[in-house]
Amino acid sequence: MRILAFETSCDETALTLVDFFVSKKGFLPKISILAEKVASQVQAHAPFGGVVPILAAREHEKNLEILFLQLLKASPERATAREFMEKIDLIAVTAGPGLMPCLLVGTAFAKALAYKHKKPLIGVNHLEGHLYSGFLSQELSTCNPQLIFPALALIVSGGHTELVLIHGIGHYQVLGETLDDAAGEAFDKVARLLGLGYPGGILLEKEAQKGNSEAFSFPRPMLKSGDYNFSFAGLKTSVLYALRELEKSQAYKQNKASIRADIAASFQQAVVDTLVAKTKKALRDYKAKALFVGGGVIANTKLRQALERLCQEERLLLLISPKRYCGDNATMIALAGYFNFKTPNQHKWQLLKVNPNLNL
Ligand code: KG4
Ligand code: ZN
Repeated sequence: MRILAFETSCDETALTLVDFFVSKKGFLPKISILAEKVASQVQAHAPFGGVVPILAAREHEKNLEILFLQLLKASPERATAREFMEKIDLIAVTAGPGLMPCLLVGTAFAKALAYKHKKPLIGVNHLEGHLYSGFLSQELSTCNPQLIFPALALIVSGGHTELVLIHGIGHYQVLGETLDDAAGEAFDKVARLLGLGYPGGILLEKEAQKGNSEAFSFPRPMLKSGDYNFSFAGLKTSVLYALRELEKSQAYKQNKASIRADIAASFQQAVVDTLVAKTKKALRDYKAKALFVGGGVIANTKLRQALERLCQEERLLLLISPKRYCGDNATMIALAGYFNFKTPNQHKWQLLKVNPNLNL
């Protein structure tokens, strides 16, 4: 089964062409990624210090056709557009959540292709994509579903921080989410407070490498809440207050660079500790057999190491998104599209609640 997938929910325009080979033994296919094309918009948004939705939508509009033609050239057959489309069995596109003008551009493009070439089209929940990117950590066809489910997923991105119980493919139960800022958003905002610029997460991680993570004792929010929810707005405010106090001191003026690195390292550690503690509680409470992790923040090395340690201690299988698939990409959308297509009547992830107007 050949899937052409699109991702345009935020500031990456991404297209992928993937072949899925279904084995007779199980429902987990062997996958072969034939071609991937991505246009990052970092430079377009950098002057504004964050993503400007309408600018992002215009960039997607400009990039989609160019990338589609590049994908066509990079595909094994190097076919004409018509021949290329003839071999496609399914088109998958991110339907939400995401920035509405950006989603509309991507879904309109995918819909037009599907209509013109009479191909089935499936709208994919972006978070479901991040979740399945964990499968890219190993040979999918060798995974035994009986050894994986029930599994827990931790999704940590710029817009979401979620713990999801996965009873089986396509059968989810959201256990907890952030009540205010997502972890990635907190990284971005603290990076701005420290004057590190955009994109914040990766710059903050670099700054943290130079600092001492025990220099400041920032809070680990909601650890005693008894549920699986998160809250990172207060942690960000603690950094703001610490900075305000420091700015009054002579020591800060003299050691600005090293104190800034200490703040970055201490903040990063607080986020990592909080995510790991909540994940551990959910893993134990629900007796999960595996942990899926994905989303932009999972590219963070300290967080990856902490999750690896956790799964070793708990003797669990860790399906962690490879670094290059942590950020937004279309391969994860192809994966989620495949599973949605194969299990159409399962309990879906409230896609329509996310995006009532897309009508896919
Ligand atoms: O999944 P993603 O690419 O887009 C959304 O769906 O939101 O996640 C982007 C988020 C941003 O907040 C970015 O700052 C954060 O992931 N991020 C990181 C790192 N790389 C990206 N946060 C911490 N450490 C990183 N290395
Ligand atoms: Zn994302």
